[in-house]
Amino acid sequence: MSPGQRGAMGIPLTVLPLAILLHVAGCSPPPEPVVCTHGTSNCTVTNSFGSFPDRSICRAGNVAYPRTEQELVAAVAAAAAVKRKMKVATKYSHSLPKLACPGGLDGTIISTARLNRTVSVDVERRLMTVESGMVLRDLIEAAGAAGLSLPHSPYWYGLTIGGLLSTGAHGSSLWGKGGAVHEYVVGLRIVTPAPASQGFAVVRELGAHHPDLDAAKVSLGVLGVVSQVTLALQPLFKRSVAFVKRDDSDLADQVAAWGRLHEFADMTWQPEQRKVIYRQDDRVDVSSPGNGLSDTLLARSAPTRMLIDARAAEERLQENGTAAADLCAAARPLADTVERQAYGYTNDGVSFTGYPVVGYQHRIQASGTCMDSPEDGLLSGCPWDPRIRGSFYYNSGFSVPLSKAPAFVSDMQRLRDLNPDIFCAGVDTRVGVLLRYVKASSAYLGKPEDCIDFDVIYYWSRTYGMPRAHADVVDEIEQMALRKYGGLPHWGKNRNFAFSGVITKYPGAAKFLRVKDRYDPDGLFSSEWSDQVLGINGSPDIVKESCAVEGLCVCSEDSHCAPEQGYFCRPGRVYDEARVCSFLQQD
Ligand SMILES: Cc1cc2nc3c(=O)[nH]c(=O)nc-3n(C[C@H](O)[C@H](O)[C@H](O)COP(=O)(O)OP(=O)(O)OC[C@H]3O[C@@H](n4cnc5c(N)ncnc54)[C@H](O)[C@@H]3O)c2cc1C
Ligand SMILES: *[C@@H]1O[C@H](CO)[C@@H](O)[C@H](O)[C@H]1NC(C)=O
Ligand SMILES: *[C@@H]1O[C@H](CO)[C@@H](O)[C@H](O)[C@H]1NC(C)=O
Ligand SMILES: *[C@@H]1O[C@H](CO)[C@@H](O)[C@H](O)[C@H]1NC(C)=O
Repeated sequence: MSPGQRGAMGIPLTVLPLAILLHVAGCSPPPEPVVCTHGTSNCTVTNSFGSFPDRSICRAGNVAYPRTEQELVAAVAAAAAVKRKMKVATKYSHSLPKLACPGGLDGTIISTARLNRTVSVDVERRLMTVESGMVLRDLIEAAGAAGLSLPHSPYWYGLTIGGLLSTGAHGSSLWGKGGAVHEYVVGLRIVTPAPASQGFAVVRELGAHHPDLDAAKVSLGVLGVVSQVTLALQPLFKRSVAFVKRDDSDLADQVAAWGRLHEFADMTWQPEQRKVIYRQDDRVDVSSPGNGLSDTLLARSAPTRMLIDARAAEERLQENGTAAADLCAAARPLADTVERQAYGYTNDGVSFTGYPVVGYQHRIQASGTCMDSPEDGLLSGCPWDPRIRGSFYYNSGFSVPLSKAPAFVSDMQRLRDLNPDIFCAGVDTRVGVLLRYVKASSAYLGKPEDCIDFDVIYYWSRTYGMPRAHADVVDEIEQMALRKYGGLPHWGKNRNFAFSGVITKYPGAAKFLRVKDRYDPDGLFSSEWSDQVLGINGSPDIVKESCAVEGLCVCSEDSHCAPEQGYFCRPGRVYDEARVCSFLQQD
């Protein structure tokens, strides 16, 4: 995410009043995703936003909370013995797509919430083994305490190691092995179904050179349950971070070059302002003075009242067809404040005195204090907490091959030049488009070539089929990235249509599916969703009325948009082959 401009997670700045940024109080920790009516039976599972892209909640027959690998094996065996579908849920289950749903209605959910210990740390060999449910915050803290650093990670630390690996999650780097966490996995233990003769479940241990590791380290959870992960860490290091704001006229030239200049480089692009905030971020010697801290402003807790009011204001702006320029104006003060507050960075954990901020990797790489504050009866919470009904937005992330990124950026600039203000309404650009580097991977479901990941968040109505203001902007950008420039959707983000046919873009897909057939021949860990995205059965597209407004399909007729509200299916403005829901003035 951006230099904090969007929080570790990209909370739309516009929806939060300034006061929130100054508020640092205890909050209620986020809810767990699994809820059952009878003890551990008759359950539902959702994600941390309380809504999958198709707005459904999943059903499951029961849930298990193993505390040890032995209990995990027993849980898998119990379900495998009766050929029940299974799926892993994690402490918070942050993936937007329907990954956490077991197939059918009465499957078993295996939660890794209690599998969260450090198994071993080998300081000399710089190896750390953890249970798969360990939350990233705890992992990087434990590594730091042992004098070690995980070199790259997502920017929000509420994710689990098992979950973030399964979806190929990443930070940003073109150096060394690059920004994806799975590049640092050198061993893994995974529990898979097995024949009755082996007790219905077995633990498979995959060492650094085991060929199946390339399947297991990015698996979408369809191979079995990862029990433990061994990571190759580095000696504790410090980073020196500065944000440099420049105009975007040469972004097409810079977009690949910047990543070669700085080890932890990223960019936050604000197209409507014609600005780019470059993250100039490099490793420095551990003896360099500084105890900097990243505490992303918008992943801090916020008072419930404010979140609700801010959402109401946003809904009014969206639903009254407010002029795009007004949306830009509404966004600016907050964006300016965040910039003045250095995106939540401080030089010493208390105050910001200027760039560069120098600090230990584990204090800089990720943040998200709203997740670990005490209960306060939900007077405050993470801004996206579904119990609050505060901010609610889509998050799209797609990786474009580095070689094609300059042309993609130029196309986006062309679209922007037609009317810069629409970017305020469509893309949440007061927040910005976050650009991060991910390198080519040997993982079968990792990136086949060096890429830049583009991340955008944008308004999501709580009403099915209610169009966003200037929805066509994001729709066109997404289709351009995915179809014209060969982009790949982040497995843990995006709306359904983004996954249509995606598996054909992975040269390693066939190898992945062969491992899946060996590990789980009955498809017990597969669901309707995983079968759709892996091209095994069906399509992730859902074609029905207003499906394109929801991102469930690409429109091919007006009824897929919202013609009664003035939104019709039309070609893109720059990318002719795009089909987007455009607002047409009728008078
Ligand atoms: C606020 C926020 C910030 C984010 N920031 C980033 C970022 O900076 N970079 C980035 O790349 N992504 C980011 N993401 C996306 C995130 O990385 C993915 O959604 C990630 O998969 C979520 O991890 P989780 O632990 O919540 O896993 P879940 O969503 O619970 O699980 C993901 C999948 O993995 C499976 N799974 C989980 N654990 C196991 C296991 N032990 N064994 C087998 N299968 C398992 C699940 O069944 C599911 O299919 C962000 C998401 C949010 C909500
Ligand atoms: C099971 O849970 C659903 C809600 O998810 C509830 O409506 C239903 O009554 C429950 N069934 C039983 C038998 O309790
Ligand atoms: C594991 O989770 C429990 C319960 O959430 C928590 O109290 C504990 O601190 C976690 N352990 C580690 C090592 O992070
Ligand atoms: C939006 O419309 C509602 C209802 O018509 C009205 O109450 C509200 O004031 C309008 N808001 C804005 C910002 O125009």
